Formats: sequence, structure tokens, C-alpha cells
Amino acid sequence: MSDFLKSSDPMELWLTTLKNYVNEELEKVCENLKTEVPARLLESISYSLLAPGKRIRPILAYFSAASVQGGNLALETLRKVTPAALAVEMIHAYSLIHDDLPAMDDDDYRRGRLTNHKKFDEATAILAGDALQPLAMDLLATEIGNETPEIAVQAVQILSRGAGALGMVGGQMDDIYFSPDACRPILPMTLLGCFPTLSGEFCQKELEKFGNSSRLTELRALESMQDRKTGALITSAVMLGGLIAGASEEQLFRLGLYGQYLGLMFQITDDLLDATSTAEVMGKKVGKDTDKGKTTWVNHLGIEDSRQYVERLATLAEEEIGQDAFQDATPLISLLKYVAQRNH
Ligand code: IPE
Ligand code: IPE
Ligand code: MG
Ligand code: MG
Ligand code: MG
Repeated sequence: MSDFLKSSDPMELWLTTLKNYVNEELEKVCENLKTEVPARLLESISYSLLAPGKRIRPILAYFSAASVQGGNLALETLRKVTPAALAVEMIHAYSLIHDDLPAMDDDDYRRGRLTNHKKFDEATAILAGDALQPLAMDLLATEIGNETPEIAVQAVQILSRGAGALGMVGGQMDDIYFSPDACRPILPMTLLGCFPTLSGEFCQKELEKFGNSSRLTELRALESMQDRKTGALITSAVMLGGLIAGASEEQLFRLGLYGQYLGLMFQITDDLLDATSTAEVMGKKVGKDTDKGKTTWVNHLGIEDSRQYVERLATLAEEEIGQDAFQDATPLISLLKYVAQRNH
């Protein structure tokens, strides 16, 4: 099998190559919709889907697949993972469009541009978000289903659980109406029920470890909200890459835990950047969490403690994949440092 990227290639090369590849593929998706979709709807979808994001979720799917296959990313694997990588980015794009709506975070700028409802109008933005969700599932069902129907069914299950009421949407609800008692069961949707052959004892031990990761139990409700609103989709991306690359159930389970830790790291760094960065660098308004009285790690624990917690989560994430279950998980391990130190 010829390799598209090698484990020994620098992290920067992986990130830029995959980001450019994802952008080209997203353009093709929009192009293919041209004849069938009302022009204004397609314009609004393309506006958000093709806007300059980091593409971290699709990149994660490829990193995960490579880690399952010994560290390199084969050309064939790149091709097979692509529908899932794009589907996750489509769900992400919709989540941002709706997150910015006046009824939610009421933001005017995203990725350095006007938000979708500011550029178009609220109705168009809502419909663009609505349209992106079935488009993502259709991509999984059609593109993966044509070759491997059983994998497609599992992929749809993982992405719908990560995106929906048990996952991202549930977390957004907790974010809008935060309650310190709203502590949902740990790792709700993506893991439980997805691993029929793993022993209950093994799962239980790992789940307890995850539940005890927080230093302060009273912050568990906050963590639970963040696990869902951001962690669930990130976990889906990692698991989808693993699933398509042929991960064993134990590998998939560990990838799920890695995804949850990374997702939490990702949201805490987003909250840190909201408190410390600038609108120019972020391409979106900053200081909005405090303005809106949002409950975040940073507002609760301060900047220094939040930074330390990000480091701790990186260590926990690495423990899940940096051992015997994976031959060479270099891509996913390198990504932990990138997320912990990200500046936008
Ligand atoms: C922003 O996600 C929303 C969060 C979940 C924190 P990203 O930081 O991945 O946004 P883009 O896609 O790069 O714009
Ligand atoms: C967004 O969290 C999480 C989503 C599910 C979209 P935020 O509301 O903090 O994201 P930003 O800061 O607007 O990107
Ligand atoms: Mg929000
Ligand atoms: Mg927001
Ligand atoms: Mg934020």
C-alpha cells in the first residue's frame, strides 16, 4: 500500500496536507449539490462549510485511522475515511451556524467573517444548519454503505449519537441552561452499547477512571456539559477513523476515551482563548463567556488551574493509546501537544 503520509513526517506537514485535502473535498461536496438545491440554501451552506476553519475534526479521523494502522496514512485509507471526515465537518459546521444564532450565543463573527445569519438571515441560517445534518448522514450511508454496509451502519450510529440529544445537542442544552446538578452519566452515547464483545469489568474500570479524572467533583457537571457539547463530536471523529481503519473493539474503546479527554481539552482551551486571545487571532468575538455569564473552567478555576488541567487531560489521553493496544499512535499523541498549546 502506498503511503500518503508517514509517521516520521513532521506534524505540520500532516496538518497542512490534510487540511488542504479536506478543503478540496468539501468544495466537491458543494459542487455536487449545485443542480438540486435552491441557490440561496446552497450559498448559505457553502458559506459556512467552506469558511476557513481548522478542520481539526476531519483531521482527527485520519490521525486515528493512521494510528490504528501502525502510524502511516495509506492512500487507500485516506480515501476510505474521507466520507466520515467530511460528514463530521458538516455536523460541526451546522453546530456553529446554530450556536451563533440570536437565540443561542448571538454572535456576529465566525472564522473572521460575518456569521451565517448576519450574512443571510435567520431563516436561511437555520435551514442551512438543518440541511447539513441529513447531508452528513447521507454521505456516510451512500459512500461507505456502497462498499461496506455493516461499517456504514456503525458509522451512522456513532455520528448520530455524538451529534444528537445524547451528545452535542444535549451539551448545548446544558450550556444554555446550566445547572450544577445536571451531571449526566459518564461517556453516554458513543461507548455504551457499541462494544458487545468487551468484558463488562474492563469497561467499568476504564469508565470509573474517566469519572474520577476531575480533581473537584463539584465540577463534574461542568465537565459533563463540555464532554457533550464539544467532546462528543470529537470522540465521534476519532472513533469513525478507527472504525473504518479496522480497529479492534479494545482499540475503538480506547480511542473513544482518548476522544473524550481530547474533547475536554479542546473546550477548555477554547474557554482559555476566549479569556486571553483577541478577536483578530480567533476570527470570533472574545470575552463573550464572561459577558454572558457562561459557566466555564476558566470562570470557575482561573487561567493557571485550567492550563494545568489541560496538561493532566493530555497525560490521561496519552495513557489510553500510548501502550500495547496500538503499535504506533504517534499522530494522535502529537496532536495532544498541538491542542494543549494551540493559540487559535
Ligand atoms: C469551535 O470549534 C467551537 C468549539 C467546539 C470550541 P473550532 O475551534 O474547531 O472551530 P473552527 O472549525 O476551527 O472554526
Ligand atoms: C460551542 O461552544 C460548542 C458547539 C457545540 C458549537 P462555544 O459556544 O464556546 O463555541 P464558540 O466559542 O462560539 O466557537
Ligand atoms: Mg455556545
Ligand atoms: Mg458560541
Ligand atoms: Mg467559546
